[in-house]
Amino acid sequence: MASPLRLQKFLSRSGIASRRKAEEYIAQGRVKVDGKVITSMGEQVTPGKQKIYFDGKEVVAVERFIYILLNKPKGYVTTLSDPQGRPIVTSLLSGIQERVYPVGRLDLDTEGALLLTNDGDLAQAILHPSHEVTKTYEAEVKGHPSPGSISRLEKGILLEKKKTAPARIRVKRRGKKTTVMIITIHEGRKRQVKKMFQAIGHPVTSLKRLAYGKLTLEGLALGKYKILHQNDLKKIFSHNFLYKQKNS
Ligand code: URA
Repeated sequence: MASPLRLQKFLSRSGIASRRKAEEYIAQGRVKVDGKVITSMGEQVTPGKQKIYFDGKEVVAVERFIYILLNKPKGYVTTLSDPQGRPIVTSLLSGIQERVYPVGRLDLDTEGALLLTNDGDLAQAILHPSHEVTKTYEAEVKGHPSPGSISRLEKGILLEKKKTAPARIRVKRRGKKTTVMIITIHEGRKRQVKKMFQAIGHPVTSLKRLAYGKLTLEGLALGKYKILHQNDLKKIFSHNFLYKQKNS
């Protein structure tokens, strides 16, 4: 029989969500162990011995981890359901049997690279700030930001009372009324890129995520996805974090 582990860890290993998200689900009272709702984070469970339910459905341990890179079109939500009935990203994954969920989020009107997986540990590793996984975006902004304001953004600015971590920014193209910028950040605050450019007076008019680390959208048309392999996953972590592949 498996050895005991924390409930949130079991849920993330079973493809329900990242550990952090699983903790939210526990706190929301959506998880039961042997018929009892558990809302504390300290609960230890023994898979195989206890029955664990999420939203009323029994959770079974995952047999196979799967990693997917999707080129998300605008107009799709990155949640797994939408009360407003808008299209959800997983509807683009025809042919994938596993229950996967997005790693982090992209706004409804943002397109581009979105990772999906059922591997809670990997999702957690990508989202955790200590691993500094970079995300690169192409942002079209209103007007023409001055070199001074670009450098302010690069060094870090106050957003909601907290300074942003250093960013790398370059100008790709200057249009008549807009500028296309390439920005690389390693934080993942909500609507961060839009807020950063808004803060220097150049709101984003269009946003696309080009890459996680060195993993790019190359060869992937809008709305299409591909299954990632070991070599692809290594590209996500740019330095010193060694990702141990579990399926090999
Ligand atoms: N930053 C944003 O503002 N929006 C996204 O979707 C991603 C990063």
